[in-house]
Amino acid sequence: MYEQLPTPYGLVRYGVAPDHPEVKNCQSTFAAVARSPNFTYIGNVCIGVDISLPRLKPHYDALLFAYGASRDKVLGIPGEELRGVYSAREFVGWYNGLSEFSDLAPDLGRGAEAVVIGQGNVAMDVARILLSPVDVLRQTDITEKALEVLGRSRVRSVKVVGRRGALQAAFTVKEVRELMHIQDLAFERIDTSLFPPDIKKLPRVQRRIAEVLQKGTEARIQNSEKRWGLEFLKAPKAMHASDSTHISSITFAHQAFSPDTDPFSKSASVVPTGEESTLPADMAFRSVGYKSASIPGLDELGVPFDTKLGIIPNDPYGRVITPSAGPGSLTAGHVSGLYCAGWVKRGPTGVIASTMEDAFTSADVIACDWESDVPFLNTDSGEDRSTGLGWAGIREEVVSKGVRPLSWSDWERIDELEVARGQKLGKPREKFESVREMLKVLDA
Ligand SMILES: Cc1cc2nc3c(=O)[nH]c(=O)nc-3n(C[C@H](O)[C@H](O)[C@H](O)COP(=O)(O)OP(=O)(O)OC[C@H]3O[C@@H](n4cnc5c(N)ncnc54)[C@H](O)[C@@H]3O)c2cc1C
Ligand SMILES: NC(=O)c1ccc[n+]([C@@H]2O[C@H](COP(=O)([O-])OP(=O)(O)OC[C@H]3O[C@@H](n4cnc5c(N)ncnc54)[C@H](OP(=O)(O)O)[C@@H]3O)[C@@H](O)[C@H]2O)c1
Repeated sequence: MYEQLPTPYGLVRYGVAPDHPEVKNCQSTFAAVARSPNFTYIGNVCIGVDISLPRLKPHYDALLFAYGASRDKVLGIPGEELRGVYSAREFVGWYNGLSEFSDLAPDLGRGAEAVVIGQGNVAMDVARILLSPVDVLRQTDITEKALEVLGRSRVRSVKVVGRRGALQAAFTVKEVRELMHIQDLAFERIDTSLFPPDIKKLPRVQRRIAEVLQKGTEARIQNSEKRWGLEFLKAPKAMHASDSTHISSITFAHQAFSPDTDPFSKSASVVPTGEESTLPADMAFRSVGYKSASIPGLDELGVPFDTKLGIIPNDPYGRVITPSAGPGSLTAGHVSGLYCAGWVKRGPTGVIASTMEDAFTSADVIACDWESDVPFLNTDSGEDRSTGLGWAGIREEVVSKGVRPLSWSDWERIDELEVARGQKLGKPREKFESVREMLKVLDA
């Protein structure tokens, strides 16, 4: 859970699908910042595990938490622990070469029917990777190990199941289009009653989704080897096994729009109808969202992690706050010197661009607070400011625990070697799949 990672980029390296170009933009912005003489990159050090948060405090004036969402939400239904049931987080981590999941070995050869639960963009990524021709995937940096398993996959049909309707699904039109454009993949027609008679009157974002879903694919079910479909208004109820260990089907409780809701609005709510149906499933992927967790030592700094929302409570600018302090001046309830950004600030939603924008706001507010002379981390302990040592103040303690911290140039070396490994295989990069391997090549 709190594994050290020598590498930068978080989900942009280990989550975002390797065929998505926005990765490059984000990485080059990060790299440009990391090369600044005012920036110190420290890889392979897990905060809260290799060094406690209170030990950082004397050496820094401010800490910003941007540690993302390293867990996923569960369904809490019977059978979820059966073999053949994977979380989307582990599956995307596996094909992206995250060492934590390098041994996942999903059994894609077990059968033809895969079910993805949840209708967000991650669910669409999972469906796309399962259904894309492996020769197309070979042009990306999906690991060789994953390509080998995907190449042997027997999956022919993927159902992506949502508990609400087509206009409430969390996916975006770009992700739907990507699936519609996979060669020779047919899309199962969907029930048009999920849309209003005149879709032109829908708000722009929903209208575009409705158009793409209604148009479907050129490939036809009867002529295609592979197909995908969206199932709506079905909430997962139980997963079943044919042999007591491996999933074979999933029962869904049918839902209908609440009488007091507009069924074509994005926020429409649903209620159970009492009916059920069962879908065959040789494997299932739970894709119902990620979740942030507290890290050890947060409470010692006076940070109240909100376990219900899965965020560090913060004001709209990213200042960490104690909500019980109540409203008042702009910085009321601010835990001095502490800030947050990204998914741990807003919850596990948002794309790279929105996450970056939001992080710029958090950075601006630190600068603004500094200029305004508000209290920072060490003001309350009688010291006016930190020791100013930063990493130099804690490095020795980290190293004495046997941890090998990585500098930015260490990462650049790993990067270079990964690209060279990829070139030999005719792909952009072949990632090292374990931290041990990365450290070994650095020390070679
Ligand atoms: C499967 C998936 C696919 C996505 N695809 C796209 C896409 O195609 N396009 C798009 O625009 N957006 C996409 N997104 C969204 C995008 O990835 C996120 O918006 C963004 O990465 C969130 O950034 P973050 O900094 O909050 O978290 P992260 O990217 O998760 O970064 C958190 C960082 O903190 C580090 N960390 C965690 N705990 C500790 C600790 N204790 N000590 C030290 N370091 C720690 C992690 O190693 C990581 O480097 C996708 C998301 C997912 C889950
Ligand atoms: N290409 C891209 O730009 C890209 C790719 C991947 C991810 N992302 C971004 O990353 C963020 C996270 O994506 P995500 O897909 O993990 O999360 P998400 O967008 O929040 O979608 C979660 C899905 O799970 C459903 N769900 C939640 N709890 C459920 C339950 N108990 N039973 C059944 N269904 C349940 C939700 O339905 P309800 O709506 O009914 O709750 C929703 O359909 C999003 O902002 C996404 O846009 C972007």
